[in-house]
Amino acid sequence: MSCSINLKELGYKNSTKDVFNSVTLNVSHEEKVAIIGANGSGKSSLLKIIAGLITPTSGGVFLFHDEMKSLKDFRKYRCDIGYLPQDVSDHFLCPTVIEDVMFALRAKGKSKDDAYKKSYEMLQSLGIVHLENRNIYDLSGGEQKIVALAGILITEPKILLLDEPTNALDEDAEQKIIDILNSIKKSMIIVSHHKTFIEKLAPTVYKLNKDGLNRL
Ligand SMILES: Nc1ncnc2c1ncn2[C@@H]1O[C@H](COP(=O)(O)OP(=O)(O)O)[C@@H](O)[C@H]1O
Ligand SMILES: [Mg+2]
Repeated sequence: MSCSINLKELGYKNSTKDVFNSVTLNVSHEEKVAIIGANGSGKSSLLKIIAGLITPTSGGVFLFHDEMKSLKDFRKYRCDIGYLPQDVSDHFLCPTVIEDVMFALRAKGKSKDDAYKKSYEMLQSLGIVHLENRNIYDLSGGEQKIVALAGILITEPKILLLDEPTNALDEDAEQKIIDILNSIKKSMIIVSHHKTFIEKLAPTVYKLNKDGLNRL
């Protein structure tokens, strides 16, 4: 079976405590997996490890069957991984919504017109066209989260790592995100403390505990 992500016996200790041990997980091509867990159980840390932002204390991370032995090894898969952090407030590179969503396309060499058209369509599909010319730092936390998601989806990564994608969103916006994520065929790990939300998205749900993941 073609796997996008394999985690083997991952353990993580931060400066203050043993966060988790023995996290083993396989995510197949286009499979959606959800992880829930108490505050502080290490959900965000686990996603950062898979995104290549922090190093686990033990165990192995494999992307597309390739072992990531150090943070440097993640570089060749940067474009394949779309990581939505829990806190997106310092995630943005441009002042306005449309500029920020266009940024990655412009960096890849797309013309201004093409980048604008594609970005505008992305705002339409996420229901945020009305935010096009708004200053990102004047938006609510929920609005910022959807803009950050737009900036990730536009780069068409193969893997999505989403940390609490709907916290701070109202019910309509949450439903919109559920519909969009359900329509996307990609490997995904979605982290949330919101069980009813996650059940609408991923057939496989795990709970993160100190001793690893338990399938629910
Ligand atoms: N930068 C940090 N330095 C020290 N401890 C941290 C840091 N970030 C998170 N923690 C601690 O690590 C544990 C796991 O945090 P986190 O991965 O954010 O859990 P979750 O996302 O499940 O709430 C928590 O006890 C948290 O307080
Ligand atoms: Mg978290």
